[in-house]
Amino acid sequence: MTFALSETHRMVRQAAREFAEEQLAPGAVERDEQAVFPYEQIKALGGLGFMGMMVPEEWGGAGLDTVSYALAVEEISRVDASAGVIMSVNNSLVCFGINTYGTADQKERYLRDLATGRKLGAFALSEPEAGSDASNQRTAAAAAGGEYVLNGVKNWITNGSTADIVLVMAATDRTRGPKGISTFIVEKGTPGFSVARKEKKLGIRSSDTVSLSFQDCRVPLANRIGAEGEGFRFAMSTLEGGRVGIAAQALGIAQASLDASLRYARERKAFGKPIAELQAIQFKLADMATTIEAARMLTLQAAWLKDQGRSFGQAASMAKLYASKTAVQAALDAIQIHGGYGYVQEYLVERYLRDAKITEIYEGTSEIQRVVIARSLLKEEHPD
Ligand code: CAA
Repeated sequence: MTFALSETHRMVRQAAREFAEEQLAPGAVERDEQAVFPYEQIKALGGLGFMGMMVPEEWGGAGLDTVSYALAVEEISRVDASAGVIMSVNNSLVCFGINTYGTADQKERYLRDLATGRKLGAFALSEPEAGSDASNQRTAAAAAGGEYVLNGVKNWITNGSTADIVLVMAATDRTRGPKGISTFIVEKGTPGFSVARKEKKLGIRSSDTVSLSFQDCRVPLANRIGAEGEGFRFAMSTLEGGRVGIAAQALGIAQASLDASLRYARERKAFGKPIAELQAIQFKLADMATTIEAARMLTLQAAWLKDQGRSFGQAASMAKLYASKTAVQAALDAIQIHGGYGYVQEYLVERYLRDAKITEIYEGTSEIQRVVIARSLLKEEHPD
């Protein structure tokens, strides 16, 4: 990696840290417990430019780079990983997708509101039979006059019931496999589009995850993003950036686990001294800090490569694979350091474990990240 954080990066990180501590920390436990969506906080994040961080200012965004974005997602997720994923999906899947592949008309109609947080977006790729095997799309989009008629079901959609705008991948030609998939912008309230089921989850409980149903849902031709058949490429390339966001979210959870462990190790006494003086605890803290720093380097490197316009898919998958594993292990270590207190709600670390687990699953499981990394390695003719 050949970059250092700029003054802007540090300011963005500080602003996100302050917002998280002042606006997200109060009530985070209750929102998790009651599975309540942080409506007000997300609106406030939008007001500060955090919902469209990489969108150019002319479309209402903050015009920042991906490194700034990764730093901000880490800080938000350090306090509230549910807010972290809500923010990540809106920024790196929805805003990025429309900004990069949308027409000027689509940007005018949707991007400004999404980037300023006036509206929220969701990304609907997964289906009951198309999770890791994402090109196996069953949702169909049939062309009819100047419209497409969508029929099918989408699963595990983050922001699905709260979103005003959903990017939907659907098969326009099932015989062409990945090359027969297209992407559509569907507005909330479109007849035939409804929320079929809200999931009850282990973690990130104050973000909403739902199934969406499309029954003869008519979408104008002007809402197709890119050409017919380009939807799978759209989804895959957009997800590369999404994986940087999820790596940053995982990093935030891991750092929170370390912060809590350091605090507790200094306070808690056993055998007549703070447990921080016991080597068994010190070794755990040292391992946590080392893996977290390595995960941060991978994440920032992937973000930086993206900012340089260089190929970053392999780096994004490495970052997500490693940061998510680090988050789960750091949360487990934090619970072990806290002993019985770690297993109950009082010290927050049990939530970190519940929140960490999903980072190994969504936006491509760890197994899929390994597939992407291995394919990329085997394709390289002259690796550096
Ligand atoms: N960029 C551009 N094009 C790409 C691409 C990329 N990153 N990856 C693949 N493609 C193209 C390929 O080049 C290929 O086109 P050509 O034949 O013209 O070369 C086409 O897409 C098909 O690619 P593959 O043959 O590699 O497709 P595959 O069926 O083998 O699938 C996969 C590859 C990596 C397994 C893919 O299905 C995948 O990433 N699965 C995981 C899906 C996923 O991450 N889902 C997350 C859901 S979203 C979510 O979780 C959001 C949320 O709510 C939090």
